[in-house]
Amino acid sequence: MRHLTRSLLLAAAGTTLAAGTLAPAATAAPPDHARGHQDTLRRQAPKDLQIGSAVWGQRDLLGYDRLDPTEHQRVLAREFGSITPENDMKWAEIHPEPGVYHFSGADAIVEFARANNQEVRGHTLLWHSQNPQWVSDAAADWTCEEARDVLEDHVRTVVGRYAGEIYEWDVANEIFQDDWDEGGVRLRTEANPFLAACSEDPVALIGDTFRWAHEADPQARLFLNDYNAEGVNTKTDAYYALAQELLADGVPLHGMGSQGHLSLMYGFDDSMQANFERFAALGLDVAVTEADVRVPIPEGQDGPTPEQVTLHAERHDAMLEACLAVPSCTSFTVWGFPDASSWVPDVFPGEEWATIFTDDLDPKPAYHAMLESLREATPGVSPRSGR
Ligand code: XIL
Repeated sequence: MRHLTRSLLLAAAGTTLAAGTLAPAATAAPPDHARGHQDTLRRQAPKDLQIGSAVWGQRDLLGYDRLDPTEHQRVLAREFGSITPENDMKWAEIHPEPGVYHFSGADAIVEFARANNQEVRGHTLLWHSQNPQWVSDAAADWTCEEARDVLEDHVRTVVGRYAGEIYEWDVANEIFQDDWDEGGVRLRTEANPFLAACSEDPVALIGDTFRWAHEADPQARLFLNDYNAEGVNTKTDAYYALAQELLADGVPLHGMGSQGHLSLMYGFDDSMQANFERFAALGLDVAVTEADVRVPIPEGQDGPTPEQVTLHAERHDAMLEACLAVPSCTSFTVWGFPDASSWVPDVFPGEEWATIFTDDLDPKPAYHAMLESLREATPGVSPRSGR
């Protein structure tokens, strides 16, 4: 209903300009290209929900010129109210040598966001992956005290540099194993070098990482974040228990992020909303932090089938709907675009087409499905009270 009214108004406005008088039967919606920038994800988002995308500052934003953006930068600014550094704030990028910090990619993210009135989601501070060689080398000999010192210095330096610029931080990323890993779902006290050094009490280290981050930027909302953490499952059960423990200890934990890396090779777990609701009931925010939907495309098949295109749209929309249904859902971020810049083809051979824009930067049906759901979610009206 809302959609029809809006289309009518736009169509009527166009006709008025052209003919100087209101057309009597302006019923058709204007074609996509005539809608200008009225209908964008960020404009249609409810007031308290950020729609975001990951972007790699070092690759995509260096030398950004507001007056002469690349087409990718134009779409990024137009469609998204939030950006996440895809790699630029990870240890290997930002802290490549002991005591040496490289801020250029992260700075480019923050500057682009400022120039385009966007928020920044920080990513990430404590993770088992993309750590620099020096960390892996040193970690073998670390005492817990030494590991804590290195981590504390890093957290205070990075979070402190961008204090006031970042609304949400993925503080701890993928700290639980999967149930198919050896030992099942438990903290990654082997793969994560910091948790390994403090394996006698890893929860204390996790809690202190949140405390250091909070001291360095008291305004930022601090998140746990993981994949395979959409529905109610053994991994989210473990996060739920950890969140309760941290909160009981007074740790400044504010949110649980579900990455949302899906594949059409698997089904969709429709307990996502229920999962969000249980974390919200703890007083936490929730977020979809890295959404993309991989499409398996066998060799010889020329792109996705019509059925796959539909499912790709439905899965994106299902994740967004789960978020829209829970007032504590603060952000919904897609993990980059277009497909040519996506991490998927490199990491998942045989799967592609995961993002919501084509390589020509045309919106896919998934984009339109999301836009429609945002429209129906009453733009500009906060679903939350008292915030
Ligand atoms: C990915 C990036 O997209 C790639 O460019 C990089 O090579 C590897 O990491 N979960 C996360 C993200 O939390 O940081 C990962 O990003 C994707 C999985």
